[in-house]
Amino acid sequence: MAIRNFNEKTLTAEVLKRVGKAPDKRTRQIMQSLVKHLHAFVREVRPTQEEWFQGIQFLTATGHMCDEKRQEFILMSDTLGVSMLVDFINYGKAGKATESTVLGPFFVEGAPELPLGASIAKPGTPGEPCAVSGTVKDLKGKPVAGATIDVWEGGADGLYDVQKPDGTNLRARFRSDAAGRFRFNCITPVSYPVPHDGPVGKMLVACGRHPMRPGHLHFIIEAPGYEKLVTHLFVKGDKYLDSDAVFGVKDSLIVSFRKKNAAGEATCAYDFVLKPKKK
Ligand code: BEZ
Ligand code: FE
Repeated sequence: MAIRNFNEKTLTAEVLKRVGKAPDKRTRQIMQSLVKHLHAFVREVRPTQEEWFQGIQFLTATGHMCDEKRQEFILMSDTLGVSMLVDFINYGKAGKATESTVLGPFFVEGAPELPLGASIAKPGTPGEPCAVSGTVKDLKGKPVAGATIDVWEGGADGLYDVQKPDGTNLRARFRSDAAGRFRFNCITPVSYPVPHDGPVGKMLVACGRHPMRPGHLHFIIEAPGYEKLVTHLFVKGDKYLDSDAVFGVKDSLIVSFRKKNAAGEATCAYDFVLKPKKK
């Protein structure tokens, strides 16, 4: 019998039946859930044809905004809270292990490896000089020696090096010493807007939202036998801690950058705790 003459009530079941033929089990599960929720969304919103087309145009513009330096779809995922949801699901919370947060689009693989104590800021970089120190340990308090510590931050102008033509700055890789310790210099992070000159920026305006993130320093910490930790340290007292455009703030990652050392630099100290790799 021909399967046709669908209506608003019968269509979803037929689409589900067809995607249910996907030979791969996970693909089947993902596609069935996508169809179920997408159809439910359309039923709830009841878009006009014009609104449906605006949605298509929004997604098209989002794609056109993407190149090797700009990933507007990740930005959309970040600003709609999806990136943090995926992070909660996959990294979760384990005892005293340091909490994770969103990666963001400005990480660059292969940043220069610098000796402990070096500065990630090229000479003459504007901003308040800041000395960062701490340790990398495991859940039992044992130092993790030789952990790679990737660090990156935006400049005092609110822009990351990859958003400007002047080459690598404010990013580097360090290795923890035999006692799990690390130290380096940077500039005290300042709040800045996520890129908002594209479709995601328009979406934020339409929702009455600002694009700001509270000041933060990005970290990726990796060591054999441990889960890779993707996180930030947020500046205590920043006015955007409660309205981060990408929902990444966690209390345990908020740190004071106010205390000054003998050299008059701001300081920040943090002890990272890695959790063992999932078996
Ligand atoms: C960032 O912190 O670099 C960032 C995170 C998500 C979206 C945009 C920027
Ligand atoms: Fe950032």
